[in-house]
Amino acid sequence: MPQSFTLEKNSNIAILTGAGISKESGLETFRDPDGIWSRVRIEDVASPEAFAKYPDAVHNFYNLRRARHRVATANPNPAHLALARLEAEWAGDVTVITQNVDTLHETSGSQNLIHMHGVHSKARCNLCQHVVDWQGDMSTADVCGACGLPGGMRPHVVWFGETPLHLDRIQATLVECDLFLSIGTSGNVYPAAGFVSVVQQIGRAYTVELNLEPSLCAKIFDEGRYGPATEIVPFYVDQLLESL
Ligand code: APR
Repeated sequence: MPQSFTLEKNSNIAILTGAGISKESGLETFRDPDGIWSRVRIEDVASPEAFAKYPDAVHNFYNLRRARHRVATANPNPAHLALARLEAEWAGDVTVITQNVDTLHETSGSQNLIHMHGVHSKARCNLCQHVVDWQGDMSTADVCGACGLPGGMRPHVVWFGETPLHLDRIQATLVECDLFLSIGTSGNVYPAAGFVSVVQQIGRAYTVELNLEPSLCAKIFDEGRYGPATEIVPFYVDQLLESL
């Protein structure tokens, strides 16, 4: 840890995570050469326009992903577990802000968790906005338990062109943090990719990127650590906990 950076016992830590942290639990990333967007066009499956035009294709895409995520949920990896351990053992606040729609952070024990892009394990009615737990497949024939109408049930995930969830709570977390970690995200998608700039402009935090390779935003961070998340994240967490 550089000399210029000192953490107090009760410092607050904000952690942004992306698909890279779940890769070693068997889930695909989006923009790696073998990632989801190398096979499927974003505009065909991940926008409100796509859902309006091709609802069956969108449901099919998310049904497959939901099934995969259900299996992977049983398999949190050492990086997820290290972040849960950090939250349990650190005296200050540790908040995980995840772009991931899997539930591996909660399976691992993270409690102070913000799902800014929603979750696969919930559905929302487009007609009345009711949100409900959802484990199996979804289709246009499904009826909303709240408004009683068919055709509106959709994955409770944030599509391109939609506003991420919990932005007020995220902003407060970024402003209040002393250390900002960005783990397993390529820095392509805003507003998440801009969080490092937010903490540098209006917050006070030291910023560290932990990723397989330097992301698009790598140069903005105070420090970068590179390698598989299952190796570099537990190592970094151990260092943090030993530093006090
Ligand atoms: N350990 C650490 N990092 C990894 C690993 C690994 N084992 N494997 C891949 N990575 C890194 C990649 O190098 C890449 O920088 O994880 C990053 C994954 O980037 P993306 O696939 O772009 O995923 P993410 O940044 O989470 O995407 C953001 O885009 O499509 C949308 O809504 C989707 O939430 C997602 C958002």
